[in-house]
Formats: sequence, structure tokens, C-alpha cells
Amino acid sequence: MNILITGGTGFIGAQVARVLAERGERPIIFDINDRKTPLKGLESKVTIVRGDVSNYSHVFNVVKQHEIDIIYHLGSMLSVASDADPWSAFRVNAQGSFHILEAARILGVKQVIFSSTLATYGLDIREELIDDYTLQRPTLFYGCTKVFVELMGRFYKRKFGLDFRGIRYPAIIGPGVKTPGIVQYYSWAIEQAFKENPFKIWVTPETRCAAMYYKDAALSIIQCGETPRSSIKMGVYVLGGMFLSAQELVDNIKKFLPGARLEFVPDMEKVEIIKGLSKPVDERCAREEFGWVNQYPIERTIEDFVKELKENPEMYE
Ligand SMILES: NC(=O)c1ccc[n+]([C@@H]2O[C@H](COP(=O)([O-])OP(=O)(O)OC[C@H]3O[C@@H](n4cnc5c(N)ncnc54)[C@H](O)[C@@H]3O)[C@@H](O)[C@H]2O)c1
Repeated sequence: MNILITGGTGFIGAQVARVLAERGERPIIFDINDRKTPLKGLESKVTIVRGDVSNYSHVFNVVKQHEIDIIYHLGSMLSVASDADPWSAFRVNAQGSFHILEAARILGVKQVIFSSTLATYGLDIREELIDDYTLQRPTLFYGCTKVFVELMGRFYKRKFGLDFRGIRYPAIIGPGVKTPGIVQYYSWAIEQAFKENPFKIWVTPETRCAAMYYKDAALSIIQCGETPRSSIKMGVYVLGGMFLSAQELVDNIKKFLPGARLEFVPDMEKVEIIKGLSKPVDERCAREEFGWVNQYPIERTIEDFVKELKENPEMYE
């Protein structure tokens, strides 16, 4: 199978590439940024093509030239950037995804697997538990573009028979995260504790947030993609990962890094936003339809996170 990964030099995309390459695939990495560091050690196992999803010819050329069968579509502008520049986010996230679907339809790609987000649900969810039937009414422009792509994918599936599926991720944590974001205290608290730096956590100890380790993010989207089509009913699946309070996060960090200097200095505006965004997630459909079980609960997450920072410091600078 010829596999294309858009956003393949990014945080999650590079991990998807790593898992697939370790299984003997030779994924084609398509990204506007052709940085090599996230793909360290995979140089001979992947092909990197620099390109822009918002340019239809770039997308068409890479899909045609490499006779692509499967597309993991992770290339995107993220939340803060999309809100700051909704005009570019429309081009990249909405129109770029339309290009992916069109190239897939015209060139006979079998499957497109999309990375969506919990931010498609918005801040005014009435239910106490989010599931695959919760109304998606995003607050941020980023979430709007992602809902649009989910719905376009549904349409391409119904109208053209394209095997479209995807994952709605919670906050993804891991080493080397640089993208600004309101829930990045998760990753940065672990990273700064490892570097023996003090770190101020901007939420209250009770604040809870749904989060998942980046290795689980890669495993879940691959597992979703590899499941036989007959088992896939829902199509796009919400995942919640862990739902820890900030205090539980700190307690777990201290098990591995007892000298961690982590202090709570809450910014109540941020706390309120996270409260609105963060609800526990019912992953039942993902469990039932493609057998998803989190591989990295918090202790394993922190253990692996610290191991990565120790073994590959140059990858996460
Ligand atoms: N990180 C999270 O917490 C999180 C949560 C929910 C969903 N997601 C989704 O997961 C996917 C991967 O996110 P990530 O965390 O790896 O982010 P990332 O920013 O590390 O990766 C995104 C990649 O897309 C590339 N890209 C941006 N614009 C492009 C364009 N015009 N053409 C081609 N490539 C382009 C970037 O260069 C980058 O490598 C995204 O679709 C994101 O919306 C991420």
C-alpha cells in the first residue's frame, strides 16, 4: 500500500510515520515544512515531499506521482494560529482538505483518515459527558474548519464511496511541543520538571482536561485506519484519553521527577475556558468499532516522555 501522510513532519504526523515505517511501510511525507529532525532515524524509510495542501496542484501531483492508496490527513493550522488568521486557516484547513478529498476521488485513493479535534464541540456543551452524538457547535474558527471537513468527508463517503474516517483528538501531549495552546501546561510541566526548571501551571489544582500521549494519538489513528471497512459505522470517533486534574498530573510527575518545582499560579480566564472545553469523553464507539484502548495511561506517559527527552534531546530542543 502506498501511504501519504500530510503534516508528516509535525508532532503527531511524524509519529504516525515512525510507527508505519517500523512496520515496513515506506510512507510519503507531505508537508509545507520539510524539517528533518522529527523524522530522525527514518531518513532511508520515508520520502519527504515539500508541498502545500492549499495548492491543489501540489496535492494532485503527489497523489498521482506516488500512486497513493491511503492518506493520513494531519496537515493543518492549529487552534491559536487559526483564530489569529482565519483567512489562512480557511485556505489550509477547509480548502486544503477539499483538495485532499478531490484528489482522492479523481485518482482513486481508497481511504482518507482525518485528524479532527475535541474543539469541534465548543464551550457551551450542556451534557456532562461528550460522546459521538454530542452536538458539534465550535467556538473557535479552528473547530469550524474541522467540523466542515468531517461533514465533507461524510458526503464523499455517501456520494462517491470514499472510505473516509477519522479521530477527534483531545489535547495531545508529548516532548518538544512548541505550538502555543491553553492546555500545553500538561507537556511543559513535564518537560520543565525534567530540565530541572521551575514552572508555573496556569490552572487551579482541580482543573481537569482531556489529554492523550502523542504515541497513543498515532496508534489510535492507525488502528482506526486499519480496521475492516465493515466494522466502521460511526466514521469519525471522539477520544478523550486521560481526564486528570492538574494536581494529579503534578503528583504523577513527582513520582518520576521528585525534585520537580511546579507551582500553581491560576489565570482564571484560562481556567474558565478549559472548564467549558473539557468534559469527560465516552469513547464507546471507538472501543466497540475498532477496539481502541489507551496504551499510555499517565504513569506510562510520563515514564516514556522522560525516556524520550533523555535519549533524543536533539529532537525536542
Ligand atoms: N496537538 C493537538 O493537541 C491536537 C489536538 C487535536 C487535533 N489535532 C490535529 O492533529 C493534526 C496534527 O497536529 P500536530 O499536533 O501534529 O500539529 P503540528 O503543527 O505539529 O503538525 C501540523 C503539520 O501540518 C503542516 N502544515 C501546516 N500547514 C500546511 C499546509 N498548508 N500544507 C501542508 N502542510 C501543512 C505543518 O507544517 C505541521 O508539520 C492536526 O490536524 C491537528 O488539527 C492536534
